[in-house]
Amino acid sequence: MVSGKTSVGATPSTTAPMLELHDIQATVLRPRPAPYFGTHVLLRVNDAEGGRAFLRRLTPHVASSTEWWNSANTWLSVGLSYAGLEAMGVPSDSLQSFPEAFRVGMAARAAQLRDEGVNHPRNWEAVFNSRDTHIGVSAFSDSEENHKRALAVAREQYDGFSGVSVVALQDFGAQPGDLNPLGYKDGIDQPAIEGSGVDPLPGQGPLIKAGEFILGYPGEAGIPLLMPQPEVLGRNGTYLGFRKYQSRVGAFNRFLRAHGSTEAEQELLAAKLVGRWRSGAPLTLAPDIDNPDIGADPKRNNDFNYTEDSRGFKAPLGCHIRRMNPRDTKLTRLTDVNIHRLIRRGTTYGAPYDPNALSEADDEIPRGAIFLFISAKAMATIEFLQQEWINDGNFIGAGNERDPIIGQQEEGATFTIPREPVRRRVHGIETFNVLRGGEYFFMPSLTALKWIAAPDK
Ligand code: HEM
Repeated sequence: MVSGKTSVGATPSTTAPMLELHDIQATVLRPRPAPYFGTHVLLRVNDAEGGRAFLRRLTPHVASSTEWWNSANTWLSVGLSYAGLEAMGVPSDSLQSFPEAFRVGMAARAAQLRDEGVNHPRNWEAVFNSRDTHIGVSAFSDSEENHKRALAVAREQYDGFSGVSVVALQDFGAQPGDLNPLGYKDGIDQPAIEGSGVDPLPGQGPLIKAGEFILGYPGEAGIPLLMPQPEVLGRNGTYLGFRKYQSRVGAFNRFLRAHGSTEAEQELLAAKLVGRWRSGAPLTLAPDIDNPDIGADPKRNNDFNYTEDSRGFKAPLGCHIRRMNPRDTKLTRLTDVNIHRLIRRGTTYGAPYDPNALSEADDEIPRGAIFLFISAKAMATIEFLQQEWINDGNFIGAGNERDPIIGQQEEGATFTIPREPVRRRVHGIETFNVLRGGEYFFMPSLTALKWIAAPDK
């Protein structure tokens, strides 16, 4: 029996967790604190032994998922790209056991990810095209002070250490009101993982087999997914995708003002694009006016499905959350929605959302989201989402309409709001969040970190 004070709004389960929590990195299961402060440090391995020595120093400071539901104010996590594993001298038969998409890296998968036009790697920040992002270390904290301490611990391991060099450093943190770069409450829904040790929150279910998210356990098909070899390397590990978006806040606000003559109309349109009001209240439960009490209540803000709204009169079929998790929506292209879920660890960076930002210069102010997503098949899932549910509309009978928040839009793109007697088609959707770079990382178990760091294998 598990006990303890929960920080995630969920109740520890009365049955013991089935997962080897002490071996799984904390970021896999633990949500970020609210508010949160942190830094992503990207490092290059200069020589194999230097990289391994760095990992030996860092690993004792990397947190596990033990009692992940309890308050924890500060922790470090680490991920390694394929180029990083190679640079650290991981044997070639192990390297070959990783999936193709991971091996070639995110930039080389642009076609499969439909990272085209402004989102194409040729327009990314140079570091993400260099294949020099070998190690990603992230510090998550609940206060500025704790964050400084956590970062100092990480820095002690690499400062003045010739084996690795910092190639990028990105601070992140909650905006006032815990809002994301477009001004919405975020991070509400996460998949409920079987055997993780807590009962799901209302609306969070159905429980999804752990193997979809953590290597070494049965997935939804009843068997474990293929994992990197040997077993000590793969088991209790997972993959983490890193995608850095620049939010074009001016363009987003201009769009809302162009299509709503009052603030109330603009806010309703903002809610229709996402499927939730900025407060987090879902349109399915609060269709006409915002209900911030629902938005703030973890027992109510996700307790819905789309049975009563099959035509999208409340939450449009094409809105962001309904595309990303159609729940029980009848899809034109049949698929099991439970196999396309991701654990999301969104981290917001830069200037806060400004409702009065309207100029093109505002689009360039560095601010946005570093979208972290975790799954045992993160590469396949994000490629599916990008192709089918984000940059297409056929699965919901919406032709070539795309996700209004993260789709890469063509000139003259539209968004359809179902209503009676006639639907409303809103023109002038732009690419509101532009991709600035990304990479795939393997997030090894604590045991595997030691294996990778060992001089002889
Ligand atoms: C940077 C831009 C993004 C913004 C502004 C944004 C905004 C939001 C908001 C406001 C929510 C509702 C809160 C919640 O349910 O937790 C949400 C949910 C979600 N978003 Fe995003 N998002 C962004 C990027 C992404 C990306 C890149 C993906 C995946 C490829 C994604 C996948 C999801 C999923 C799966 C949900 C939960 C849907 C549900 O289970 O009902 N988001 N997002």
